[in-house]
Amino acid sequence: MDNLLETAVHGNIGLITLNRPKVLNALNRQMIREIAETLEEFDRRDDVRVTVLTGSGRAFAAGADIDEMANEDSVRMELLNQFVDWDRITVIKKPIIGAVHGFALGGGFELALACDLLFAADTAKFGFPEVNLGVMPGAGGTQRLTKLMGKTKALEYIWTGETMTAQEAERFGVVNRLFAPELLIEETMKFAARLSEKAPLSIRLSKEAVYKALDYSVYEGMQFERKNFSLLFSSEDQKEGMSAFQEKRRPSFKGK
Ligand code: HXC
Repeated sequence: MDNLLETAVHGNIGLITLNRPKVLNALNRQMIREIAETLEEFDRRDDVRVTVLTGSGRAFAAGADIDEMANEDSVRMELLNQFVDWDRITVIKKPIIGAVHGFALGGGFELALACDLLFAADTAKFGFPEVNLGVMPGAGGTQRLTKLMGKTKALEYIWTGETMTAQEAERFGVVNRLFAPELLIEETMKFAARLSEKAPLSIRLSKEAVYKALDYSVYEGMQFERKNFSLLFSSEDQKEGMSAFQEKRRPSFKGK
């Protein structure tokens, strides 16, 4: 069997490439499991500071694998408990940057939305076509899209199944930056490299705090933020960062 993913480490950047180009990287359950496993491995490795997730061929991912789902029933779906592997992605501590070209549809869009930052080709297309299949988003799409763009616009896309252009996605705050398709990976890797030079614990604990903003009240979120802020003062990197500032030199962070 072909490898469902290609994985590599370039400097401090882990790269995961979805590798079922013949079916536009349709996500089967095994693939999601392998993505979660690889992200967990990168999370444990000292040499990886940021992960980039992208697709091979002409799409990021055109959705969950329809052939795998077509004959399922709801009891089997419940017993499969497949979303446990999607949940593993949400507890990854290091930054995940999605690089989307071509289609990011259905589960493919949900995987993109599970990334912390999203860069896209200016020709990319996003959408939830589930309404045309008699289902609906199931891996976080209704929640994450709504948090990003608000109820009214999210419902419009989820109900019509229409695709969102890259420009709309950027305007609605779904995507961070757009690039010409041929520059997408290069620019994403450059950004990831810049991010990997920042203090890793600062990145890690601020990621955790920002996600609390999605679920907590501002008061609770600020209590959480404060603990993480204080925690960083036990790190070597805080001493290094502040000494480097005073000594007028570039800091060198170790992630400790
Ligand atoms: C299985 C898929 C697939 C998918 C594409 N393919 N998407 N196979 N599951 N989600 C396969 C096609 O069957 C075809 O295989 C090959 O990939 C190329 O696709 P084409 O349709 O020939 O390409 P094109 O004409 O360019 O159309 C591209 C497309 C279309 C518009 C993206 O493929 C499409 O509509 N795909 C389905 C999109 C979708 O409905 N996604 C949501 C799935 S439900 P062959 O063998 O014919 O060459 C979902 C729920 C998530 O994601 C729930 C949580 C997990």
